[in-house]
Amino acid sequence: MSHDKLRIGFIGGGNMAQAIVGGLLQAGHVPSLISISEPQESARRRLAALAGGLALGTDNAAVAGSADVLVLAVKPQVMSAVLPAIAAASRPDGQLVVSVAAGIPIATLAAAFGSAAAIVRIMPNQPALVGAGMSVLAARTGTGAACRARAQYVAETTGKALWIADESLMDAVTAVSGSGPAYFYLLMEVMEQTARELGLPADAAAAMVRQTALGAAISAGSVGADLAALRASVTSPGGTTAAALAVMDQASLRETVRRAIVAARDRGAELGRSVR
Ligand SMILES: NC(=O)c1ccc[n+]([C@@H]2O[C@H](COP(=O)([O-])OP(=O)(O)OC[C@H]3O[C@@H](n4cnc5c(N)ncnc54)[C@H](OP(=O)(O)O)[C@@H]3O)[C@@H](O)[C@H]2O)c1
Repeated sequence: MSHDKLRIGFIGGGNMAQAIVGGLLQAGHVPSLISISEPQESARRRLAALAGGLALGTDNAAVAGSADVLVLAVKPQVMSAVLPAIAAASRPDGQLVVSVAAGIPIATLAAAFGSAAAIVRIMPNQPALVGAGMSVLAARTGTGAACRARAQYVAETTGKALWIADESLMDAVTAVSGSGPAYFYLLMEVMEQTARELGLPADAAAAMVRQTALGAAISAGSVGADLAALRASVTSPGGTTAAALAVMDQASLRETVRRAIVAARDRGAELGRSVR
């Protein structure tokens, strides 16, 4: 079946589901093939505003029973409460289960959906909400190529997608791309604040910092870009950038960032143990 003919069902219609539904619609997916179970009327209204014809309701079992691809998009803390009823209603005939819930391992989903279920876990990140997400996917062993391709189709509606073979790296993924946007926001906040302190008007400071971040991200994302070489190319010996980087080196910025990411990875593992 071609991907645009798939019936895609969502359990939970919050921010991440809305981002994926928006991406599916933009990719040309027919609204009537998309069903969403979501208890909040306000969230259902936001979904309804994306397109007419979406199947919106509050019946998890109905969605689970009809979808070719079932996307679990509830908060991790409620996953264990919703899984039994969804799994009981799910289709035994080749349905793909996709979870975007942070920290919920494939084994937890497999225990609910049974030995034959095809399962893919996706770790998206916040820029998915603007179509510039980084999603990292891991599949249950035995999940076939067709199901993997379906999961990738769903993930790519919100940005880039890549696979990891070893699910145990998901906590590291969470620390790098899941939490990563916050690290860049922090740096941009400090840059904007300092720009204002140096006398620049607030709107100019905001425009300069955000466009500079975007420009650096686009440069870094171009094929074959080498980060150290890009940095060196704006750092003349004895110049302004060199003066700034020397201060960052003296403050052990590299080691601080490294320790921050390791702390995020360790916290992810800890939280994962508490929601499983
Ligand atoms: N947002 C992100 O940037 C991001 C990034 C990475 C991963 N994720 C993952 O994506 C998942 C969803 O996150 P989100 O930000 O979209 O959260 P969200 O906006 O809170 O959406 C979850 C939705 O599920 C609904 N829900 C709660 N219980 C339900 C039930 N029994 N049946 C059906 N729906 C139910 C919630 O309704 P109530 O408000 O009534 O509870 C809420 O509207 C999470 O597991 C999160 O880990 C999100």
